[in-house]
Amino acid sequence: MSRRSLSSSPPRDIKRPRLIPLTPDDYRNGVMLAPMVRSGALPTRLFALKHGAKLVWGPEMVDKAMVLAERVVDPISGTISYNGKQERAMFTCHPIEKPYLIFQVGSADPDLAVQAARVVMDDVSGIELNCGCPKPFSTHAGMGAALLTNPDLLCSILTALRRELPPHISVSAKIRLLPKQEDTLSLVERIVNTGINCLTIHCRTRNMRPRERALIHRLKEVVDFVKGFGGDVAVIENGDCVGFEDARRIRSITGADSVMIATAAEANPTVFSPTPLTNLEETFILPYLRLCKYLDNHWASTKFCVSQFKARKSANKALREAVIKAKGYTDLDALVGTWTGDEEFTAIKASIEARATAPPILLPLSEDTLQPQSQSQGSATSSGGDEISTTITPSGWRGNPDPTVVNDAPFLPANEHRIHIPAGVSKQDPGTPTPHRLSGGGPPPLPLCRYLRFFL
Ligand SMILES: Cc1cc2nc3c(=O)[nH]c(=O)nc-3n(C[C@H](O)[C@H](O)[C@H](O)COP(=O)(O)O)c2cc1C
Repeated sequence: MSRRSLSSSPPRDIKRPRLIPLTPDDYRNGVMLAPMVRSGALPTRLFALKHGAKLVWGPEMVDKAMVLAERVVDPISGTISYNGKQERAMFTCHPIEKPYLIFQVGSADPDLAVQAARVVMDDVSGIELNCGCPKPFSTHAGMGAALLTNPDLLCSILTALRRELPPHISVSAKIRLLPKQEDTLSLVERIVNTGINCLTIHCRTRNMRPRERALIHRLKEVVDFVKGFGGDVAVIENGDCVGFEDARRIRSITGADSVMIATAAEANPTVFSPTPLTNLEETFILPYLRLCKYLDNHWASTKFCVSQFKARKSANKALREAVIKAKGYTDLDALVGTWTGDEEFTAIKASIEARATAPPILLPLSEDTLQPQSQSQGSATSSGGDEISTTITPSGWRGNPDPTVVNDAPFLPANEHRIHIPAGVSKQDPGTPTPHRLSGGGPPPLPLCRYLRFFL
């Protein structure tokens, strides 16, 4: 499906959010949507925000691709597309997510990284350098996890981004643990001195398989180390988190400022809520499809994202089968009913605006909730010798794979564990109920002023 737009300015009813910079505190006390090639599509990010994600990351885009992208705006929905060859959208975003959206760039060159960031910076609040992708496409070009062993280059990119971008654009980095803790600490020391606001640490090493348990027990020392500098850099844990309650558990073990979720959010974009939706066939897929249509999300992307949503064994399969067979939105008319998507978009917009008075779900951390650390990998043992359940990967967990970043990365299968849509089905390639605001027993809201940035 082609984009509807030729315009380069926003539609009249979409207000431009005010430029209020993200501070390190904005990266704290939250559950975040991780960057995900292909799966971190615009509709998924908007639903994640609706259901309590504090900030959302876009999929990694390689700097060279962004530098050549053409920016177009859909005059009906306001969706902004960065198009590559043949007007194909490589990255899409929307003004309503801008105050909470981080753009992730893959780069091995400070100048190119800055150029790519400048292309997109008016539509996002922060720019992040991906230093964790272990796939050959990234590492052969010196990007992603290759930067972990080239700290001079890594830090020169971050320094250039911070120096060259306007102060209201936040700069952050996402890394993996190095095999040795002392090397991790040395690297982290250099990174946090570049002037970034936030460092996300995926608690696996470069060579670990996605299904191997994340080494979250190693993070507490890193977090304490960063805090010891007295600088103002937020640290986000990433790896093996399956939802809000699990984020509290991980946070209590690691002391991290926030927790970031990828795979579990790919399977269910509402996991940021303490009460996530469970029966997605009944509660989520239809609204998701409608929103995708409203946003003019590429049909192949919509189909792929829906295929990643977790299915219940007992669920009605008719809808999923219809989605797999459909060649476009119109093929689903009979099942989906009214197709405007207006209602879904309006509800999401309202819930994002409501952050001014009903802040997103936060994760308070008091020092006394911190658990003693374990020296073993992935499972702690109490004094009585019992396994501490907080470090056990929940049952049903299917690992946390990394993206395959190859040509046209945003549309390619993410990894070998993905559910592949046969080419014959997809043709080419391959995005509800209201969010639950905090009620009694939830953590205290942040000061109102922190949430007034939006639409003021
Ligand atoms: C489908 C998919 C795509 C991903 N794409 C990216 C990406 O673009 N950039 C990135 O830094 N990490 C990417 N990752 C890695 C995740 O952000 C995250 O670091 C990893 O999956 C561990 O988190 P999890 O245990 O919550 O899955 C991707 C992961 C998945 C599953």
